Amino acid sequence: GYTMLNEAAPLPFVLSDRNSAEEHFRLKYRYLELRIEELQKNIILRHETYQATRDYLSKNNFLEIETPVLMKSTPEGARDYLVPSRLHHGKFYALPQSPQIYKQILMISGYDRYFQIVKCFRDEDLRADRQPEFTQLDVEMSFVDQEDVKSQMESMVKDLFKSVLGIDLEKQFPQSTHAEGMDRFGSDSPHLGIDMELIEVSDLMKEVEFKVFSGPANDEDSRVACLVLRDSSEMSRKQIDDYTDFVSNYGAKGLAYIRVNDIEKGIEGLQSPILKFLNDEVINQLIEKLSLGNGDTGFFGADKKVIVNASLGALRVKMAEDFSLIKDVWCPLWVTDFPMFHWDEREKRWSAEHHPFTSPINPDPEELKKNPKDALSQGYDMVLNGHEIGGGSIRIHSEAMQQAVFSILGIGEEEANEKFGFFLEALKYGCPPHGGIAFGIDRIVMLITGSSSIRDVIAFPKTQTASCLLTDAPSHAGKDQLNELGISVKKKN
Ligand code: AMO
Ligand code: AMP
Repeated sequence: GYTMLNEAAPLPFVLSDRNSAEEHFRLKYRYLELRIEELQKNIILRHETYQATRDYLSKNNFLEIETPVLMKSTPEGARDYLVPSRLHHGKFYALPQSPQIYKQILMISGYDRYFQIVKCFRDEDLRADRQPEFTQLDVEMSFVDQEDVKSQMESMVKDLFKSVLGIDLEKQFPQSTHAEGMDRFGSDSPHLGIDMELIEVSDLMKEVEFKVFSGPANDEDSRVACLVLRDSSEMSRKQIDDYTDFVSNYGAKGLAYIRVNDIEKGIEGLQSPILKFLNDEVINQLIEKLSLGNGDTGFFGADKKVIVNASLGALRVKMAEDFSLIKDVWCPLWVTDFPMFHWDEREKRWSAEHHPFTSPINPDPEELKKNPKDALSQGYDMVLNGHEIGGGSIRIHSEAMQQAVFSILGIGEEEANEKFGFFLEALKYGCPPHGGIAFGIDRIVMLITGSSSIRDVIAFPKTQTASCLLTDAPSHAGKDQLNELGISVKKKN
């Protein structure tokens, strides 16, 4: 016999088939979707990821220390989520974009190996691998250099893969400088499991009549580069048009191409809208430099470097996906030697590439102020299969250098004192040299579970517009509550 414990209403969608309902509908009934085996597996692997990394770090003498969630703004380049204060009329807490300042302060306090599995909050434009609240595995260490942090963290990640997946990652992760990644792959987080590379052809294009190419070829901030898709004779004209549309999303003004029908016939055997602009000598040099063979298609980008890199870098991944060219192997990579700053064209000022607490390679603050454009930082990212899974740096530990960086970022003395005075003061009390890193747990779990979306590894994720469809957050606040906080809501214009 059996006893009925409770009744169940008819299910709003078929649990055995996730595709039976749109995602927004499934997110509304997330408690039902979480019953699906795929999601259960993900949540279990996520748990195992916490356990493995906690275990590794504890065994290696790191202390887990919690830092406040209601705090003062720590800039990581996104907008803050603000929390109004009832007791301090008109004042706001900021939710942490990361525990960066607190963990550095812990180094000053002498807790020289810290970690924390911690929620971070960033009000930014969301993509497939971003959430407005996400989880970091945050780490900081004193008396270390880049190599110390990287080797300790590399062995943690290997330990994680071994214990959760039973996989041995390669003995030593390869390294690439940021500049090399940009030149060869058009990306600061390149997927090394794709063989295609951007081939520089600027030197061949300096003298050509075709202004679209000769212009960028003769400008130091620009480049002409080519991506060759081998054996692509199947590719349709429509697909080329689709790729042209695709790169236009990254600001490219066109996508010139050369297809090889029959290399035996030389130039006659090529098909391309740009041959008429190039003389035979240049075309033959191109064939040679690009090692063009039958069935190959070369795609060209000619523009400012940022545009060529962004567009061909994305096209490289897109074509590799479309033609199943991504190798089924784990491809970790350290990226190093980042620029300290990038120029923010809209705001017309320098902006920190990592965050304002990252130490430059050259320790002289005066040199840094003289030439911020070329300064490199002691920052490093860990990349896995084309995703940035972690980022960190050796920090500034001198007040003078910290002031210099603030001033380059356009944060004047007064503003620096208002925002970071407490931190600048703390730096005066014997701050040890220190550095660290933070990993994106959600992204790591997304990769180890083979999920295509970060939402599939978070029990209660938010949508692309930062809403929770299950609880209907964010929602309106009551009049009384707003009154108490001294807040009135303006109509949106
Ligand atoms: P960073 O901003 O690079 O560094 O963040 C560290 C890692 O967190 C992950 N991540 C995200 N994951 C999901 N959604 C997001 N919106 C999101 N933003 C970042 C990424 C990233 O590599 N305080 C520094 C770390 C340090 O210097 O020690 C920091 O937060 O995987
Ligand atoms: P047009 O002379 O503008 O018709 O361009 C000739 C070819 O060059 C077309 O195939 C365009 O897609 C391509 N093209 C135009 N601008 C660029 C650019 N900035 N980079 C790469 N290809 C381009």
